Amino acid sequence: MEKIAIFASGTGSNAQKIIEYFQGHPQIEVSLVVSNKAAAPVLEKATAAGVDTTVITRSSFYGTTALLDELKAKGIRFIVLAGFLWLVPAYLIAAYPQRMVNIHPALLPKFGGKGMYGKHVHQAVKDAGEKESGITIHWVTPEYDEGGIIFQARCPVDASDQPEDIARKVRQLEHEHLAPVVEKLLTERSTTN
Ligand code: GRF
Repeated sequence: MEKIAIFASGTGSNAQKIIEYFQGHPQIEVSLVVSNKAAAPVLEKATAAGVDTTVITRSSFYGTTALLDELKAKGIRFIVLAGFLWLVPAYLIAAYPQRMVNIHPALLPKFGGKGMYGKHVHQAVKDAGEKESGITIHWVTPEYDEGGIIFQARCPVDASDQPEDIARKVRQLEHEHLAPVVEKLLTERSTTN
């Protein structure tokens, strides 16, 4: 069984979709949800779905390997960042080479980097007069949103769209594509090595 951990800081609609998608899956299981916010709704969603949760603090996450020890103890083989707002420390990325992905709610390399999250991204897309937006699933590196791109999907942006309209179209793409892309990455790999 390939065990996945999801890192999330907020609502957790993507985490919810991923958990649902892999419920009863023969090869893949969501075994842990990690958050940096004790009150994040994603934690309730995970608990309601019977998924273990862990809350991290800056000192534990950046100052110790406690989380890494827990991930290893649980046999976590893959990490999905789905709305996780902290930079991932190098020790954790090194422990999961080509086994940690992030979903970004825009078409990288544009509209990425520090501060580009949530409505800020969609406002920037609108302000730039873009005719389309979308999602980017990419490998995680020590800098925000700079890893190799794995998958992108696009949606139209009309001049009349407000940021929340763009957000809605982008979220729909996230919910449709993230879990299947993770599944492909894991099942393809397990057949090749
Ligand atoms: C999504 O827009 C995702 O692309 C970004 O953070 C947001 C998480 O939303 N990384 P949710 O918490 O999964 O609803």
